[in-house]
Amino acid sequence: MATQDELKRMAAEKAVEFVPENEYIGIGTGSTVNFFIEALGKSGKKIKGAVSTSKESSALMAQYDIPEITLGDVTGLAVYVDGADEVNHMLQMIKGGGGAHLNEKIVASAADKFICIADESKYVSRLGKFPLPVEVIPHARSLVSRKLLAMGGQPELRVGFTTFNGNQIVDVHNFPIDRPVSMEDEINRITGVVENGIFGHEAADVLVLATAGGVKVLKP
Ligand code: A5P
Repeated sequence: MATQDELKRMAAEKAVEFVPENEYIGIGTGSTVNFFIEALGKSGKKIKGAVSTSKESSALMAQYDIPEITLGDVTGLAVYVDGADEVNHMLQMIKGGGGAHLNEKIVASAADKFICIADESKYVSRLGKFPLPVEVIPHARSLVSRKLLAMGGQPELRVGFTTFNGNQIVDVHNFPIDRPVSMEDEINRITGVVENGIFGHEAADVLVLATAGGVKVLKP
């Protein structure tokens, strides 16, 4: 039976087919994306450039000679490829396990198409088993946490972690997410919240899901 890493690699390799040549793309963050960067580099496919969402992805892109650009260099991206912590049948996701969901959401919003790559353990019937990452302005953390508690979640500070933007992450446990889009908005309306990890507005267009039975390409 394939290991989780083998499944991640299978999804990542399949996703290279969704990358058009001679276009600008966006690249997410995480262990599945690391396999994608490697697969794209080794494929010999030529792209004009890629916007990265983290230092880790940038370093790996450089290793595989994938040219890095910034969002300011382009008016849009053809595709954005990223993993997820959880994804449902509508291709709505929880992201931010690596703490990069703000950058990821920004870059995803610039792309015509979001290609989510995942192994089957990420595919869920209801979002919320994975603790929801919420990026907060540090001095608002207690205030925001009390409001998240009032909404029914159990907020816990991600100790020793600072985001790329100098903020903190509160991971909200036991937070059933029945209506992802309205919950995404409700949490983001709390003053002091910078961005939360629900990708409802930025749901994926295509899910490349690696399962024990092979790789499936799913649409909402
Ligand atoms: C990074 O902040 C996250 O959104 C990742 O995309 C997500 O955690 C998936 O990571 P893995 O591919 O390592 O599971």
